[in-house]
Amino acid sequence: MYTIKTYNAIAEEGLKKFDVENYQLNQTDDPDGIVLRSQNLHDMKFSSQLKAIARAGAGTNNIPIQECTEKGIVVFNTPGANANAVKELVLASLLLAVRPIIEGVEWVKTLEGPDIDKKVEAEKKRFVGSELAGKQLGVIGLGSIGAMVANDAYRLGMDVVGYDPYVSVDTAWSISSRVKRVLSIEEVLTTSDYITVHVPLLDSTRAMISAEKLALIKKDAVLLNFARGELVDLDAVISALKKGQLKSYLTDFADERLIEMDNVVVLPHLGASTEEAEINCAKMASKTLKYFLETGNIVHS
Ligand code: MLT
Repeated sequence: MYTIKTYNAIAEEGLKKFDVENYQLNQTDDPDGIVLRSQNLHDMKFSSQLKAIARAGAGTNNIPIQECTEKGIVVFNTPGANANAVKELVLASLLLAVRPIIEGVEWVKTLEGPDIDKKVEAEKKRFVGSELAGKQLGVIGLGSIGAMVANDAYRLGMDVVGYDPYVSVDTAWSISSRVKRVLSIEEVLTTSDYITVHVPLLDSTRAMISAEKLALIKKDAVLLNFARGELVDLDAVISALKKGQLKSYLTDFADERLIEMDNVVVLPHLGASTEEAEINCAKMASKTLKYFLETGNIVHS
């Protein structure tokens, strides 16, 4: 009999869908396995019984990996399970960056009277945008999410360059041959109109978008960060925005320094928040944990 602790209802649902004959859910503080989403485990005391932690999502920065490794606790994520959801939000945000969709919707709501259509036709020139097609997108990090963003941005007509020091050309995520692979992050930064970051948060990637890197960016470029807030040096981003070096910053990570700024769009960490992604992650985390506890092997399915 294995005991599993879940930290959210979706993970619990995922586990209940499978053969739970040999499992007890949430009935102990000394579980064999944990399934969680974004809960921070850095201050948690791990029980001697704990064998594995399954993160229903991509990033594992909410889990103290080093401590787990020292204690022999296996940690795994659910690679690719929410990639489509994040990709769709990144593409939507790219479109928001070029078309004043939010401003247009808000303006229409202020109109009154029988001649709304005439007012619209007379004033719509206030909301002229631009197009993504023909502009260059630089994708930093070509894992499951970055590769999907790169492929679909190409399908939108963008020129796409991608940089990732670790992903081989034969990556399972079939990066289109139309995505030009470049050998340095500097090349992405100096040549792209839009730059999107898709790397995990590690000691080596924390604040990787630094003041030094931002100084290389084309004037008027747009930066997107839907991976982790700490990947950018936020003070340096704000300074680049104020100096007009960066046209805008679109991110899924709120910070009070960003809230009042005009040329910033901040979403409340919605990248993976679709029904489909939540189910995919819960299923993969639960199935993988169950299989690991039974066999000692990690096989994502
Ligand atoms: C991820 O790391 O995949 C996301 O942050 C997941 C989430 O929103 O929980």
